[in-house]
Amino acid sequence: METQIQTISDNSINTALEILQNGGVVAFPTETVYGLGANAFDASAVGKIFTAKGRPADNPLSILVADRAMMDLVAVEVPEIAERLIEAFSPGPLTLILKRRQEIPYIVAGGLPTIGVRIPQHEGTLDLIRQSGMPLAAPSANTSGRPSPTSAQAVYDDLQGKIPLILDGGSCSLGVESTIVDCTQEKLKIIRPGFITLDQLEAIAGVGQVELVGVMSSIAEDVTMEEIENLEEQVSSQEKYLHYAPKAPMTLLEGKQEHMVEAMSDELNRLKLAGKLVGVVASDEVIEALVNKGDILSCSCISYGKQGDLMGIAAKLYDALRGFDEKMVTAILAEGVSDEGLGAAVMNRLRKASNGNSIYFS
Ligand code: TXA
Ligand code: MG
Repeated sequence: METQIQTISDNSINTALEILQNGGVVAFPTETVYGLGANAFDASAVGKIFTAKGRPADNPLSILVADRAMMDLVAVEVPEIAERLIEAFSPGPLTLILKRRQEIPYIVAGGLPTIGVRIPQHEGTLDLIRQSGMPLAAPSANTSGRPSPTSAQAVYDDLQGKIPLILDGGSCSLGVESTIVDCTQEKLKIIRPGFITLDQLEAIAGVGQVELVGVMSSIAEDVTMEEIENLEEQVSSQEKYLHYAPKAPMTLLEGKQEHMVEAMSDELNRLKLAGKLVGVVASDEVIEALVNKGDILSCSCISYGKQGDLMGIAAKLYDALRGFDEKMVTAILAEGVSDEGLGAAVMNRLRKASNGNSIYFS
């Protein structure tokens, strides 16, 4: 199959509509990352998403809708607290877990009684959904396990030959996926940190009314392997698989900012002595310091932006992680950020990309 990239416009949206109406899949931009969509009511169309991505069948897809009214097509009920979150954050980077309507095929939800649903904030893509009249099952448009795509080119790199059309809307403005909030329990549960922060959710739901769940976001160095394994059995599907990973193994450095350069330098030199070709993904400041120390010789560096500029880092992160795919590196070192605010989402992605392989220092 030939994969076309077309700038998102009335014309290309018409082409996409035709594909969707005939049970096909189309990739399109959102403000978070690119999505790969199909009619959520059509099990065979949705099956094509799993095939193209190589996604395990028990990992549920989230659904994109154009407005609040469309949510009633996929969810049995929208609790009052969910209504308030929609009012505050939709369209935008928030996915709500709600009770699934029977009409949504089993394959979409990986057999769960719930679904994730979101209204993206992207005019062209909202037009596409609105005109199609269908909720779109739409995970991120990457090969399963790879960093999410934040450009049409990144989608193409993963899915060329596997899907007919990519609508190109340029780079995604936010760059990390939506925050996923389970609204089916007594308290709200964040099951994937994202662009909307815990503080923002608490401002709507009330302090203490929002819980953060998930292993990777809470692993500390003093947790034993056994405890981690026990925890892992309890976590949601979205924690179960290797996510967001670049092609070479990555180690994440976590600790105080003022000791980052020293820690990075030590590990870099250790890897070089072990014969590794090292790639560094870090802030401008840390890269500059490593350059000044002469550590960077025979390494490649990719900057994810300015230290502390979390919006900028979120927007560049996935491109940076993909940046080493074309380079000859056999190990990657990444600079961690503080877990505060949007940092929680950035660190969640970095910890997954490194498959939990962190070095801690204080
Ligand atoms: O920003 C986003 O959310 C992007 C854009 C394209 O909208 N989408 C996205 O979809 O990240 P995806 O499928 O790559 O990630 C959705 C996550 C998956 O990890 C899945 O396991 C989880 O949501 N998920 C979906 N439905 C769920 C459910 N009913 N219960 C728990 N987790 C669910
Ligand atoms: Mg994904």
